[in-house]
Amino acid sequence: MLENIDALLKEVQNFQSTTKDEIEQFRLKFVGKKGIMNDFYDTLKRIPNSEKKDFGQKINRLRNAVDHKLEELKQASQTEKTPEKEDLSRPAFPLELGSRHPINLVKNRIIEIFKSIGFAVADGPEIEDDWHNFTALNLPEYHPARDMQDTFFIEQDPDVLLRTHTSSVQIRYMEENKPPIRILAPGRVFRNEAVSSRSHCIFHQIEGLYIDEDVSFADLRQTIQFFTTELFGKSKIRMRPSYFPFTEPSAEVDVYWGLNSETDYRITKGTGWLEIMGCGMVDPAVLKNVNIDPDKFTGYAFGMGIERIVMLLYQMSDIRMFFENDVRMLEQFKSL
Ligand code: PHE
Repeated sequence: MLENIDALLKEVQNFQSTTKDEIEQFRLKFVGKKGIMNDFYDTLKRIPNSEKKDFGQKINRLRNAVDHKLEELKQASQTEKTPEKEDLSRPAFPLELGSRHPINLVKNRIIEIFKSIGFAVADGPEIEDDWHNFTALNLPEYHPARDMQDTFFIEQDPDVLLRTHTSSVQIRYMEENKPPIRILAPGRVFRNEAVSSRSHCIFHQIEGLYIDEDVSFADLRQTIQFFTTELFGKSKIRMRPSYFPFTEPSAEVDVYWGLNSETDYRITKGTGWLEIMGCGMVDPAVLKNVNIDPDKFTGYAFGMGIERIVMLLYQMSDIRMFFENDVRMLEQFKSL
């Protein structure tokens, strides 16, 4: 019996083959269900205890040799096949580059423009409290102007809400920092509005704030003109009187887009002018709310919707496109 195993061990060690069939035959012969190894395991149970140790060691050695051989054959067959399977002369797959979302592209561009004249970026939470989103911005409870921005409140606690504008970041920043202050606050904002081609519950704003001694309306106008020239290549702007509770006086800024194409006529409704942002001189009451002395300091703020700017720059007509993330749309921004 034991000599028999030695012979089998030799057979295993000497076995060579490159054909799948032969290798499979070999495998079945030794470790198949009805293979030699299983016979040996049965035998092992029946022989007297005194012989078990020697016999067990021998069949273990055989088993290891079989496993080793099968592994060796498997690897040999894989390395041999590689040249057939892989055509190394084939060109590599083109690497698909992703693209930035147009909102981010434009946001970054706007930040770049204002950074070049000394503005830094500030951040604040999207879940806000009443004070930072409304009250400190001169919008006390029951102030009718609160209706200008339909708000998402948290039902359990009316003091908790989703910020309706990034002006809340103004307040947070002024609470923590002393003038001179020159910041931009980009971010997501939320309004409880019906979704249509021009409005969406979630959108993006970028707000600017500058507080220092002797900041004037002329500074505001000059800064915005610099901005429109840099971003759109258009320097003709006009300011129309408007109302925001946190600025006084307030204005809406239009940029002269021109009437050079059919699209220009359509988007400017035949006037050549496009509204791009709200702005104004920070109301002294707001400065008081954040413990900045309004007799010593003045400042301006402006805010715009990023989606609107993107739509103007890339001639897009439906705001919902920004949130569907259709790759056919996104892919068009690859090279930007
Ligand atoms: N927060 C205003 C809005 O969301 C925009 C604005 C910002 C206006 C700063 C004036 C000054 O409509």
